[in-house]
This record gives sequence, structure tokens and C-alpha cells, in this order.
Amino acid sequence: FLSPRDVQVGRGETIRDTARALSRYLDALVIRWHEHAGLEEFARFATVPVVNGLTDFTHPCQVLADLLTIQEEFGSVVGRTVAWIGDGNNMANAWIEAAGRLDFTLRLACPEGYHPDAGLLREAGANVTLTADPREAATGADVVTTDVWASMGQEEEAAARAAAFAGFTVDADLMHLAADSAIFLHCLPAHRGEEVSDDVLEGPRSRVWDEAENRLHVQKALLATLMG
Ligand code: NVA
Repeated sequence: FLSPRDVQVGRGETIRDTARALSRYLDALVIRWHEHAGLEEFARFATVPVVNGLTDFTHPCQVLADLLTIQEEFGSVVGRTVAWIGDGNNMANAWIEAAGRLDFTLRLACPEGYHPDAGLLREAGANVTLTADPREAATGADVVTTDVWASMGQEEEAAARAAAFAGFTVDADLMHLAADSAIFLHCLPAHRGEEVSDDVLEGPRSRVWDEAENRLHVQKALLATLMG
């Protein structure tokens, strides 16, 4: 693990130079980088696989872990309905990208002003829908999932966001609208009483700890695949 203090890019070296130097030492790079364009610059100049460990645009490694958890629960994600409740953030975008590749229904419920990426939504098929009503999204869903209201780097917006997301908490009432066999997922860290109630996070439908464990297994599989 290299923190910003451990690599020269943390003190002004260009991404392209760091990408080329690190490629000489390593078999793959997993990079967590705020601006998505910076991650793409790494990928352009690295000569080893570059994995998106999280950007402000998308978080594909997490959605892979979520999909594995759904596969373990239901056998397959195909034909299932996933309800995303809350911020149209990097995780929401990753879910839209997944729904474009796999045959499941994705219903997003996001408040005005916090929608997912417009381009991804435009490209998405009819299996992806957006509403402002969490109840509409959750009704009959097999999976209900959410994420923090203020992502990394948005900490100063937390108060304004808490107001904008009022009514978007995944609580027992909302879970009650989902399918009888529905599960709850959260990529963590969770803020109890904000995007999820304590009883849902701790309740019998929560698969959050399996999901957290699957982050490890699916990333091992990803690296094994990329490195042949
Ligand atoms: N949307 C969150 C995901 C954390 C796993 C963030 O970017 O902070």
C-alpha cells in the first residue's frame, strides 16, 4: 500500500511519470484516485493492468463484490431487481454500468440535484430507471442498497446533503415494501440513522458483512484474471 506520501505523485511528479516508473516494479496497480480523468491517465501510461479502486465517477470493484453477494444469495443476478436509494454517486454509476452488461433491473431513487451521470443514464437500456420516490424503487425489489450521503471529499457538504436526502433513509418501512426474500446491501462505511437505520443494517435481511468479505475474494479473482 502506497499512501500519497510514499509516491512521488504526492509531491508533484506527473501521473504519467509515476505510472511508467511503478509499472517497472509491479505486476498490477490498484489505484484509488479522486478525479476519474487522473485514473484514466494512469491507465494510459502504465504498462501493467490498472484497476479502478474508486474514483469520484465509478467504483467497479465494489459493485463486483455486491454482485457476488447477490449471486451467492439468489444463484444469479439475472432477472433480479436492484433498488438503489440515495445519492447518484460513484456507486450508483457503477450499478448503471453493471446493469448495462448483465441482465437485471436497476431502479434508482435519487433526489433532484443528486442524479447519477447523465451520459450513463442516456446509454442505459430500458432495464435502468430513475425516480425521486424511494418507495417506488423499493417496491418488490430483490435487493435494496444505498451508500453514504457524503462521499469521500464531500465531507464539508454533509449538512446540506443530509437536508437534501431527508426521506431517503432505508428503514424497516422501506424494506417492508421489497420482496419477502429481499436482502439489504451497503458498501460501508455506514452512517446509522442517515442513509440506513440501525435495525435494517443489523437485521436479518442485511448481507453487509458477507458483502464486505466478498470485497476480498472478488478482488483476488480480478487480479488473478488480469495477471493471467
Ligand atoms: N461513495 C462512497 C463509496 C465508499 C466505498 C465514496 O466514494 O466515499
